[in-house]
Amino acid sequence: MRYNFDEIIERRGTASVKHDALNDIFGCDDVIPMWVADMDFAVPPCVCETLRRRVEHSIYGYTFLSPRWKPAIINWVKRRYSWSVSEEEIGFVGGIVPALAFAIECFTKPGDGVLIQPPVYHPYDHVTRDHGRMVVTNPLKLVNGTYSIDFEDFERKAKECKMFLLCHPHNPGGRVWSREELLRMAEICNANNVLIISDEIHCDMLLKGYSHTPFATVSDSAAQNSITLMAASKTFNIAGLKSSYHIIPNPELRHRYCEYLRINELDFAPLFSTEAVAAAYEEGEEWLTQMLEYVEKNIDYVQEFIKENMPKLSMIRPQASYLIFIDARGLGLSHDELIDFFVKRAKVGMNDGAMFGEGGEGFMRMNIGCPLSVVEKAMRQIKVAYDKL
Ligand SMILES: Cc1ncc(COP(=O)(O)O)c(C=O)c1O
Repeated sequence: MRYNFDEIIERRGTASVKHDALNDIFGCDDVIPMWVADMDFAVPPCVCETLRRRVEHSIYGYTFLSPRWKPAIINWVKRRYSWSVSEEEIGFVGGIVPALAFAIECFTKPGDGVLIQPPVYHPYDHVTRDHGRMVVTNPLKLVNGTYSIDFEDFERKAKECKMFLLCHPHNPGGRVWSREELLRMAEICNANNVLIISDEIHCDMLLKGYSHTPFATVSDSAAQNSITLMAASKTFNIAGLKSSYHIIPNPELRHRYCEYLRINELDFAPLFSTEAVAAAYEEGEEWLTQMLEYVEKNIDYVQEFIKENMPKLSMIRPQASYLIFIDARGLGLSHDELIDFFVKRAKVGMNDGAMFGEGGEGFMRMNIGCPLSVVEKAMRQIKVAYDKL
């Protein structure tokens, strides 16, 4: 079966953050929404069918995790990443950002250092600060259009920290960290008693030529000193179901984290969520393959378009996922002028790179998880504004 990713589905009026919060975020509602990270594609039919069946039952009382959920996760990570995990190592948590916050509360104290690698997914910074912990940064280096890690700085900074929030694959940098890089980070963290929280939410969406290595698989000590956070939410466009999971091989860490969740009653999954995840993992793989092929073509299109038409822009080609970090520093605009250029003149609503911290200034993050016709329209609008600069 071929899935139709060209279809335009009206999302306005569905309380969609991406489509219905435009006025609040951009001060107008006539921008093309290419910001918050969900996609404008219909989810795999197997997910809709599973949800429909459950909705039709007509009673939505207290529920356990779906019995299909853990086996589906075990098979998924085994098949895709050759990672063998047991049922007891897996637990439910209602969202990756909440899971990060819980880990910070559970394993660090106020004032402790938490290491992050900006420009990086912005909640890493504010969740850390909002919990009274200290953000310590190991800024990524941008070399020839690819982000890499400054390991000397990483080692120095790790000594000041109790926890490291690893974004793997990296958002917005688009990097898929290699086994060697992961191993080196693991060794430094282990030597300095820094617990690693590996956020692998984008790991199922690797693009051509890349493969994902779960952090915990690089060495036994990496497995014993980490918490891996995964989800089907980005992969299958079900972020609204608030469903994700942790994998914790170390029994002591697992006990502490699970006890934290249990005493706060945070380990109950909402009805629908684990059924949907199980269905997606069991039957959605072909949809995912086709979705990634489509996304790759959108990325090719943006890259070609920029190259041919807007030499003052360039893009960091993502190795995973549907977010493109566009380097707009060549326009020579101030931060406010840059926002004005994209929002008011081009009428394209993207995330401003500065929100991702050090090194993000002058960049814009474009979400191309939408029909190609929308991407084409956005690029045309940007070119018209560019030509008038
Ligand atoms: C790296 C990363 N982690 C976490 C999230 C959000 O996860 P959740 O919606 O499960 O809190 C996102 C969403 O964009 C993300 O890019």
